Amino acid sequence: MQRPDEAKHLRAWLYVSESRMPDAEADTAIEDIVRVSRERNRHLAVTGALLFTRQRFAQFLEGPEEGVNALKTSILCDDRHQLVTTACWVIQKGRLFQGWSLVYSGASQYMAGILNQVDLGGGAIPHKVCEELAYLIEQFAQTDDLDRKDPIP
Ligand SMILES: Cc1cc2nc3c(=O)[nH]c(=O)nc-3n(C[C@H](O)[C@H](O)[C@H](O)COP(=O)(O)O)c2cc1C
Repeated sequence: MQRPDEAKHLRAWLYVSESRMPDAEADTAIEDIVRVSRERNRHLAVTGALLFTRQRFAQFLEGPEEGVNALKTSILCDDRHQLVTTACWVIQKGRLFQGWSLVYSGASQYMAGILNQVDLGGGAIPHKVCEELAYLIEQFAQTDDLDRKDPIP
């Protein structure tokens, strides 16, 4: 998955957004998003994670600049959510989600508490909240639960 020369050029994007999906349709809609995403992310050599609290999404994507940019363009215009608010847009060395085109989690109360602190569409997210979000994603990348999800073959 990781090319030897890509470590210096990995783009990472972390955002929080607000769901526009009616609760009754959320489960089917999420299945659809995850299915399409796993295929497209794999094709673009992008890895990452999606958290969903039923009110909000947080997503972390990492990979080649062109791949993450292509996904960003699609995700920004997707009307299943709104107020897409960037927490981090950085260059990083190595992947947190090596081998996982998209790990999905219905978020816990604890995650929801952090995501709810984000002032969506209100400009820059305070540094402390960005750090908490990044920490959350890092912890998530290390959970044993990942072993039970769909790895990239
Ligand atoms: C919260 C959210 C996260 C998404 N994450 C991804 C993703 O990681 N990869 C992906 O291919 N599509 C993702 N999508 C779906 C894209 O917005 C888009 O529908 C899909 O990539 C097809 O792209 P296209 O409509 O430009 O062909 C996401 C949609 C939402 C609402």
